[in-house]
Amino acid sequence: MEKKFYLTTPIYYVNDIPHLGHAYTTTATDIIARFERFLGKDVFFLTGTDEHGLKIQKAAEKKGLSPKELVDSLVPMFKELWKKLNISYDRFIRTTDSDHIKAVRHIFTKCYENGDIYLGEYEGWYCVPCETYYTEKDLIEGNLCPMCKRPVEKIKEESYFFRLSKYEDKLLELYEKNPDFIKPDFRKKEVTNFVKQGLKDLSISRTGFTWGIPVPLNENHVIYVWFDALTNYLTAVGYPENKEMTKNYWPADLHLVGKDILRFHTIYWPAFLMSAGLDVPKEVFAHGWWTVEGEKMSKSKGNVINPYELVEKFGVDRIRFFMFREVAFGMDGDFSYSKLVARINGELANDLGNLFNRTLSMIKKYKGEIIPQPSGEITEIDKEIEKRAVETFDAIKTLIPKAELTKALDKIWQFINFVNLYIDRTAPWNLNKEGKEELNRVLYNMVEALRFITIFTSPFMPESGSKMAEMLNLDNDELKHESFKTWGNLKSGKKLNEPKILFPRIEYNNGEVKIAKTKKG
Ligand code: MSP
Repeated sequence: MEKKFYLTTPIYYVNDIPHLGHAYTTTATDIIARFERFLGKDVFFLTGTDEHGLKIQKAAEKKGLSPKELVDSLVPMFKELWKKLNISYDRFIRTTDSDHIKAVRHIFTKCYENGDIYLGEYEGWYCVPCETYYTEKDLIEGNLCPMCKRPVEKIKEESYFFRLSKYEDKLLELYEKNPDFIKPDFRKKEVTNFVKQGLKDLSISRTGFTWGIPVPLNENHVIYVWFDALTNYLTAVGYPENKEMTKNYWPADLHLVGKDILRFHTIYWPAFLMSAGLDVPKEVFAHGWWTVEGEKMSKSKGNVINPYELVEKFGVDRIRFFMFREVAFGMDGDFSYSKLVARINGELANDLGNLFNRTLSMIKKYKGEIIPQPSGEITEIDKEIEKRAVETFDAIKTLIPKAELTKALDKIWQFINFVNLYIDRTAPWNLNKEGKEELNRVLYNMVEALRFITIFTSPFMPESGSKMAEMLNLDNDELKHESFKTWGNLKSGKKLNEPKILFPRIEYNNGEVKIAKTKKG
């Protein structure tokens, strides 16, 4: 088994405070990072901020700040949000970091030396909010950006170009030979079709403003913000100086991105890397976009969801769970408070919380909180629960590293529902009444199932995962991934800890959240 796993979020523009979209990509990456660590991999999880470019310079001017003052004032908001969301990143990179500036200049020089960069003149359109070049025919009516639908600017200036056209065939070959390079598959088709229509050389420097990394050999130019930003993935693994670190972690195993920035990651980025003689990442996974109550999130509509406030109101794990349960990861989805509350009460309070609650109270009532040694006859449904637990573990071991997070949650909830069914079918209350020995096996199986569920749900809901492990009094051996290869590694004879309510039901009324004071859930 390969030992390292290097995964990244996009680096976020710091022209404004973070919103739900930012929280979404970062939490997804965190879930995968936590699961890979649990599997014993040497994980390197990178996130950070994209701080150069015209968009930031303009946002700063508007506020009467220097670009550096603006980004310095906003970076702490991102870091606080990640703390609030329990994001376990290994490095928070900023494109104004000195090692990054060196790395960008180095790779630029490499591409130049390899004959892929030349000086010319750019004449065309530019969308500042998207930091993207467009030709006339790309625009939508009224000279608007096809992505964000805002007005674009016409520019005509001296520029360095990257010979992107030279990489057309190499890129198509890359997509074909590496079916996992672009995920989901329908996105791969989109990118492939785009490349097949032909690629033009790409302008990779600007002269109209100064907030960026100067081009080596010609300091009148600043490097195009996307060339700068993409290189962050190399900087963080020591490129170009720390060869040992680069060798250890590069190529990245997974870049997680939103669908809007997939082309940058699957066309420009591999082309730059090939030009510099470096390996390309193994997988780029694009997720969809959130709308809010059916509408695009936007400042002017005043419907931007602030993830910090969302977590304050509902609690971190409920939000982490909701984002990946509600919408198939990879597809677009819609946020609404009613859907959030329905998921929380239906699946967290009822299905999962209540399962813990009923199991722990039965162990308390029938066995004085001690996990019994399984005994008595083994029935079909006992075999079934064993089989399903191990199968679920196997399934999520393949799904989570491939960013199939909603599919993984589906499997996990199928198992949770099965365990609830197991309890209803075996009816431990009757076994107890009738003094049947099988009660021991059924109760043991219930707790063993909870041990599996603890591990399945922990990457998604780390805080609750720790609470579950604590309630079940699990020791290190019982939490090791090897102990989930087979059923029955839960130790008997141990005392469970005091049960706590994991997910109390909530009531939501006009922006107010009330946590129910019920014993259930
Ligand atoms: N700075 C670039 C990325 C450079 S990576 C080398 C950038 N930054 S961003 O801040 O605009 O967006 C970052 C991520 O947030 C993107 O992956 C984007 O898809 C995601 N989202 C922004 N709005 C979103 C939604 N409404 N819904 C889901 N994700 C969205 O692009």
